[in-house]
Parts: sequence; structure tokens; C-alpha cells
Amino acid sequence: MKGHFPINKFKGLTTPFYYYDTQILRETLALIREESSKYHYHIHYAVKANANPGILSIIREYGLGADCVSGGEIQAALAAGFPADKIVFAGVGKADWEIKVGLDSDIFCFNVESIPEVVIIDELAGARGKIANIALRINPEVDAHTHHYITTGLKENKFGINLSQLDEVLDVVSGLSHIRLIGIHFHIGSQITDLTAFQAACSRMTEVQEHFNRRNIFVENINFGGGLGIDYQNPNDHPVPDFAAYFAIFNKYFQAQPGQAIHFEPGRSVVGQCGSLISSVLYVKEGSSKKFAILDAGFTELIRPALYDAYHAIENISSDEDGDVYDVVGPICESSDCFGKEVTLNKVSRGNLVALRSAGAYGEIMASQYNCRRLPVSYFSDLL
Ligand code: LLP
Repeated sequence: MKGHFPINKFKGLTTPFYYYDTQILRETLALIREESSKYHYHIHYAVKANANPGILSIIREYGLGADCVSGGEIQAALAAGFPADKIVFAGVGKADWEIKVGLDSDIFCFNVESIPEVVIIDELAGARGKIANIALRINPEVDAHTHHYITTGLKENKFGINLSQLDEVLDVVSGLSHIRLIGIHFHIGSQITDLTAFQAACSRMTEVQEHFNRRNIFVENINFGGGLGIDYQNPNDHPVPDFAAYFAIFNKYFQAQPGQAIHFEPGRSVVGQCGSLISSVLYVKEGSSKKFAILDAGFTELIRPALYDAYHAIENISSDEDGDVYDVVGPICESSDCFGKEVTLNKVSRGNLVALRSAGAYGEIMASQYNCRRLPVSYFSDLL
């Protein structure tokens, strides 16, 4: 089935561009709000997935907080109107200026990833006469069964504090006077479709929490990070992820302590399906054994296929004629600039518009100017 694109409204627009279907985004957000509120869960949108100001302002309307990984993301979230007391800040390498942005804006919490980082946050908070809220990002050593580039919860990853170092960290934290330990944070990976991985994260969180309790430490906040996957194969059948099943897992497998708030940081599952990269066919080139559809978009606009070997459904939205099999490639001078091999498309001719689906997350935001190309522009369905 083809996606529903307002092809007439696309006429005259310069390609490539990102197209965001705000109805899908709003349906997704309404469902997140409905399902998470059943359990009083707190949702912080992971800004890294897409920081387009139009996207951010719609997400903010639904009352979500923001999960940031840089000073720039904190500034983007604040500019879009996210309240500072709903902003969390993670990242293994927070620069001093970024920590200062967080402190000066009075964000809700720093998710800290190492002992040296916690010492610096304490020092910078002290210099301002402030007390910074921190959550310890623990590496839960849970296998998320996803692509190795986007797995984060294994021992060999650079993220988080290892389970074996918990006592050492708690000793350091207890000696610092300008930080307050308010939470435990996990993030096991991204594009997770096997929900049992989250069940494993719940068990591990219970163990870590019990470890804290044995030392008489009780935290008010538990943060399970992001990671819920989307259906890249069938975006039309599953435009909105199954948030009901997702939140139900945590409700079933994690027993919150009295007064404890549970937090999540979804990124891809919020914005992935609402975005498509729209590109024009420049040439159809017949090789000796195959046909190439050469697009005016390349990995500079959507790097996921080149970087992670990721699949994005591709559709020729200009033609209804029975088609052929093409390798769909971009114009960049690198062999990895290929969106899909042996893709069946409606008959392709020069000037046809092609949609690369499920590109709302980690698409526009990861664009680059390699080959001196221009960054892509974006259009929203309700503003066209
Ligand atoms: N929280 C933390 C601490 C994270 O590191 C991430 C993603 C998220 C939340 C949001 O995860 P999500 O719900 O989007 O899975 N560029 C890659 C994905 C990198 C994900 C990095 N961390 C891609 O295009 O697949």
C-alpha cells in the first residue's frame, strides 16, 4: 500500500525535502499521553531524534518533557517552550559550558555517566551556590538484540556506570555537597522490537534499586530511557507504535516504591513514522545487469542506510504504472550512498517523486553538508 501524500501540493517545491505528517505525529502523541497517564508515567521526548522547531513545538503542546544530550539541545528545548523542570540531560562527555547551561536553566536532572563527571558537576554547582539534581546512569548489561551501533546497555559500551562500580560511585556521591542523588537511569538501546528486553531491564532495575536500599538510599525517580522500535517494513500498517503494550510491560514487571516517579525518554517511537524524505529522480541509468534510479537525495539527507545498513521503505509516489526492479542511489561520491538494492518500484522516469518512509527520527537531524550540499528544508502537512 502506498502512503498518502498530497502530491499536488508537492508540485513546485524544490527537492529533496522532509515532509512531516502532523496528523500521524498528533495521533502518536495523543496515544502516548493516554497510555502513560494510566500509570502516571513521565515522558521526556529524546530531542536527538528530531529537533526541528515545528516538531518540538507540537510535542511540547502534549505536555512532554525533553531528554537532551547537549547544551544545544537544552537551548533548543527551552526555545520551543519545554519547561526547564521537565528537562533531563544525559551524555558521556558533557563539556563545562553545557553543564553550566543546565545549571543556569535549573533543569530537572543531570543523568551522570561517570565519577569524574559527577565531581565536575558538583564543583560547577558549588561555584553557583546551587545544588544539582543527579540520576546515576547505570549500564544495566542487558542485551537489547538490536544493531551493534545502537546497543548501549552492554558492558563494553562507553555509556553509563558499570554495575561493578556502584559502591564506588555511591561513596563518592555521598561525600559531595552540591549534588542531590534523585534517581537511577537506564537506556538499553534503540529500535528494540523484542519487548522482552524491557522486561529484563525491569528486573535489573529492581536489583539495582535493592542495592541502593541496602545502603539506605531511596531515590524518587526511575528512568528507563528510550528504545521502543517502529515498523520500518510496514509504515502504513503501523503508523503509531504499540505504546499500550510497551508501558504495560513496565507496569507489570517493575514495582515502583511509594512516592516514586517513573520516567521514559522515547525518541524514534514519537517521530519516526510521521516523516518522509521526498526526493526527485534525476536519472534512470541502465547498467549491464541492473537499473539504477538516481535520486537528488543522498546520505547527506538520510544517512541511516549508509551508516547502519538500515531499511527504509521506498515508494515512487508519482507513478501508478507497473514497475521494475531498481537500485535506488543518491548523487554522493561514495559507494555507500545507496538507499536500497533491488527495490521494486512503480515505473520510474526522470522527475518522479520518491518517498523514503519512516524517516522522521534520526533523518533530518543527522543531515550533513558533505560535498558542499545544502541542508534539507522541511514542510508540514497542515501548513502546505
Ligand atoms: N535516551 C538515551 C540516553 C539515548 O541514548 C537515546 C538514544 C534515547 C533516549 C532515545 O532512544 P529511542 O527512543 O530513539 O530509541 N541514530 C540512531 C539511533 C541512536 C540512538 C541513540 N540514543 C539511528 O538512526 O537508528
